[in-house]
Amino acid sequence: MSTVDIDAKIPNNVDLAGDRRLQRALEAWQPKFVRWWEDLGPSAFKRNEVYLRTAIDVGRDGWANFDHVEMPDYRWGIFLAEQEPDRTIAFGDHKGEAAWQEVPGEYRSDLQRLIVVQGDTEPASVEQQRHLSLTAPSLYDMRNLFQVNVEEGRHLWAMVYLLHRYFGRDGREEADEMLERHSGDDDNPRILGAFNEETPDWLSFFMFTYFTDRDGKYQLASLRESAFDPLSRTCDFMLKEEAHHMFVGASGVGRVVQRTLELMLEHDTDDVHPYGGINLDLLQKYINFHFSVSADLFGAETSTNAANYYAAGIKGRFQEEKRDDDHQLKTAYRNVPLWEDGQIGEREVTQLSALNETLRDDYIEDCQKGLDRWNRMLADAGANELRLPHTGFHRDVGTFRDTHVSPDGRAISEDEWNANVDAWLPTADDRSHVQSLQVGVNEPGKMAGWLAPPSRGIHQKPIDYDYVKV
Ligand SMILES: [Fe+2]
Ligand SMILES: [Fe+2]
Repeated sequence: MSTVDIDAKIPNNVDLAGDRRLQRALEAWQPKFVRWWEDLGPSAFKRNEVYLRTAIDVGRDGWANFDHVEMPDYRWGIFLAEQEPDRTIAFGDHKGEAAWQEVPGEYRSDLQRLIVVQGDTEPASVEQQRHLSLTAPSLYDMRNLFQVNVEEGRHLWAMVYLLHRYFGRDGREEADEMLERHSGDDDNPRILGAFNEETPDWLSFFMFTYFTDRDGKYQLASLRESAFDPLSRTCDFMLKEEAHHMFVGASGVGRVVQRTLELMLEHDTDDVHPYGGINLDLLQKYINFHFSVSADLFGAETSTNAANYYAAGIKGRFQEEKRDDDHQLKTAYRNVPLWEDGQIGEREVTQLSALNETLRDDYIEDCQKGLDRWNRMLADAGANELRLPHTGFHRDVGTFRDTHVSPDGRAISEDEWNANVDAWLPTADDRSHVQSLQVGVNEPGKMAGWLAPPSRGIHQKPIDYDYVKV
């Protein structure tokens, strides 16, 4: 059992006190992190007391504490899931060998790259969301936003710990650069495209936590399979926190659907914009946008990098151990989409080369679950259902880059695209309608008019609890 040092300057269960050099290095990074949070973390209500969950342990009998804290006093700590004794590698060329407790020299740069790319997304999303507290539709929602923000900050700590502990001087430099790149910065942007887009309104925030955080879930889940045990244990614990982020997205969009239906019924119309709601076709456009941008994050359909990572044992598949195959995938085949001569086709490739597509498939299946729930509400009310667009729609990475595919999966001409794009993706008018609904509601229990209240509060507290003391 690892012991938790909760009172240390940096709370941890990795025995920081037993490694003075590392402790000093991380304590030197800490003020840089605090300065970054001050400059680029939440821009409003930053000193108010927020009812937050703080990770304090990793065990089965409770790992979190709930209390009112001012965010700058949040205890960002380093927590790895318990080490599994005698863990062996589940896939790739080293399958069956003991998991690594140190970084093998031959995989050092690949592992470092994966950790940096994952780490970079964590502070990026905090930056993207920094102005949202000004327009929170309720104190309950503001609290959830801040919860997501502080935990993304903690996830940055998780990756920075690995960089400092296992990657020497290079790792320390990478850790500093995590705070120097900024979302949307022209000169020094975040690494991945979706993390340089703004999150300008709360509908975008709910869509982001539903679709883009879910990419994070799948990336973390495949890194949890890693032969590099400290990375595996870090991701395992991060996934516990991540579940709440998915919940914020799924319940957030669900509450918008619910409110839209109420307004449709009350006013006997599909157009609820005059009544301060969000039309279903606008919601569909936001889904089309956020789904397609997030699908790009999984990369091209076939990838030598992904194949190499898998063969090396450093990044597996979602739930690798539950799969019934040889876990090497060199002689197993599957089809991947292929754009050829203006048509959507397929080609057969080894599963090893198609790992990005396999992870994207798992992700899409998971995305569909939320739509199924929302569609049950819509079906009960006799309204049209919401749909995920075809994977080829509005893609910027892989075989569909620079092509035109309709949401229902037809290869179309540029003219047809241009004639319809305003019906498929949010227009400036759509965005300004959503923007017009963004008013901060800061009275306990009160909700903005464009979404329904949640079905229950956080941690058994009532919905009208003072989640943020304003
Ligand atoms: Fe995260
Ligand atoms: Fe997250």
